[in-house]
Amino acid sequence: MRVDVITIFPDVFEPILGSSMLGIARDKGLLDVHVHDLRDWAEGVHRQTDDTPYGGGPGMVMKPEPFFRAVADVKAAVPGECTVVLMTPQGTRFDQRIAEDLAARERVIVLCGRYEGFDERIRSLADLQLSIGDFVLTGGELPALVVVDAVSRLIPGVLGHEDSTAEESFTWGLLEYPHYTRPAVYGDISVPDVLLSGDHARIAAWRRRRAIERTARLRPDLLADADLTPDEREFASEVVQETEAGRRAGEGDTTDE
Ligand SMILES: C[S@@+](CC[C@H](N)C(=O)[O-])C[C@H]1O[C@@H](n2cnc3c(N)ncnc32)[C@H](O)[C@@H]1O
Repeated sequence: MRVDVITIFPDVFEPILGSSMLGIARDKGLLDVHVHDLRDWAEGVHRQTDDTPYGGGPGMVMKPEPFFRAVADVKAAVPGECTVVLMTPQGTRFDQRIAEDLAARERVIVLCGRYEGFDERIRSLADLQLSIGDFVLTGGELPALVVVDAVSRLIPGVLGHEDSTAEESFTWGLLEYPHYTRPAVYGDISVPDVLLSGDHARIAAWRRRRAIERTARLRPDLLADADLTPDEREFASEVVQETEAGRRAGEGDTTDE
């Protein structure tokens, strides 16, 4: 997969892209990331990429011309279908489904904003506008890295074990089950016996149950779209009710204090 990032802070990327799984993915030739300095498409001695907003107001706005030129050149550099993603807090909330969808694409171009954001016309370049959450960061570089990281670990061959992504949080529409490693007993906390049993069917059933329980406790909003049997759905709603009852009792305690 090829990813092109367009930014005014290209240096931010290398330390993350060069380390750990992303570095390995690049070394293996599975992920081909090119980070471009938007200023290369800007004009004038100062290679200006931002300007004051029409209508007044605080801050600076990213100018349209450098982005339009950059996207045209980067698209033309390599033939083939290409998805342009614009990072903005106003975009669709990025999630595992979108990461899976992007991981299946051949080429993605990511546009990073700064200051007050993009001149509105730049949005017309984007096939997809993505937000990494309901908060505002100073620039699109960290959001772009979040997207590149989440997408690249889904490219076949990037992680050591292909199963690693098959069972983890959000893939089933559930949070992942709890993990344990050695030692079997730490302080007064033991690893659940079933995990030491060697009985793979029991372990799989236990993990599935714990994943449902954990999702019902921590992220009941995910249950509506989760793929559950009628029995599992009943179990999940019991856990949700128990958790809500516990919370109400806790709130009652606080009021009494
Ligand atoms: C300070 S923000 C601009 C926010 C803009 N004035 C607004 O209110 O929507 C500057 C840039 O950071 C990036 N950014 C900030 N928060 C983000 C988020 N939650 N998700 C994705 N990108 C974000 C975008 O590229 C944005 O253009």
